[in-house]
Amino acid sequence: MKKIHLYGNWKMNLTRGETEAFFRDFAAQFSSPSPLAGAMGKTLEVAVFPPFTSLSAAESAIRSMNKDVAPILGAQNAYFEAKGAFTGEVSLPMLKDAGCTHVILGHSERRAIFGESDDLIARKVKAALDAALTPVFCYGETLGERESGKTLDVVSRQMHAALSGLSAGEMEKIVYAYEPVWAIGTGKSATSAEAEEVCALSKKLVQERAGRSFPVVVLYGGSVKPDNARELLSMDAIDGALVGGASLKADSFLQIYKQYSESKI
Ligand code: PGA
Repeated sequence: MKKIHLYGNWKMNLTRGETEAFFRDFAAQFSSPSPLAGAMGKTLEVAVFPPFTSLSAAESAIRSMNKDVAPILGAQNAYFEAKGAFTGEVSLPMLKDAGCTHVILGHSERRAIFGESDDLIARKVKAALDAALTPVFCYGETLGERESGKTLDVVSRQMHAALSGLSAGEMEKIVYAYEPVWAIGTGKSATSAEAEEVCALSKKLVQERAGRSFPVVVLYGGSVKPDNARELLSMDAIDGALVGGASLKADSFLQIYKQYSESKI
């Protein structure tokens, strides 16, 4: 069975207290003899991305868990400078100091609501790699772009921009997350065929640009839930899911993996 990367983007949700409650429920899901506990680290990799103010609550909950079932901790954004007069921003070394190993960059909400450009996102991706954090690089087309047949052009523009100036070794360290904007938070996921097409293209594009072949990890995101997980995660080019709404409760979050893995037994 392939390894599934199950990443939960909490967005602007879950206070410190709610984060503690999430982790109590999360740990309970792994209490033995759960098949989930056996899968963690082998066929399952879980990461959570709380808001900045809940990172320390998440970090201490993770630290108190059994290492074999503890999830990875990441943040939802960062600035590319290490420190200085950038009011309101948080740097990559600060995230590392807070216990993060991963950081989401280029999410469509950052692009659309906060005006982040391809160029700014590329600088952030490079800075994350320099700080030894794993970028979870998001990209995807809007509904208008899909309907006018521009999906593959938009995706390749966004990806080429993020990869410019990176070595093949750096490209290999990135986790890629294809998230069609029209599928995010709408309840309307891409079909498995639509998601597969773009995820397969993503792998090809990274390898062509790198000039060699290596395993490229590509997640699909956009209304992933327990009831569509099986079909989406079974696709060849899809290595996991970046989950928003359904990641806010440990039960529905982990159900996504359970639904998939039970179909493979
Ligand atoms: P959603 O969000 O699962 O709520 O659609 C996904 C995301 O934005 O990462």
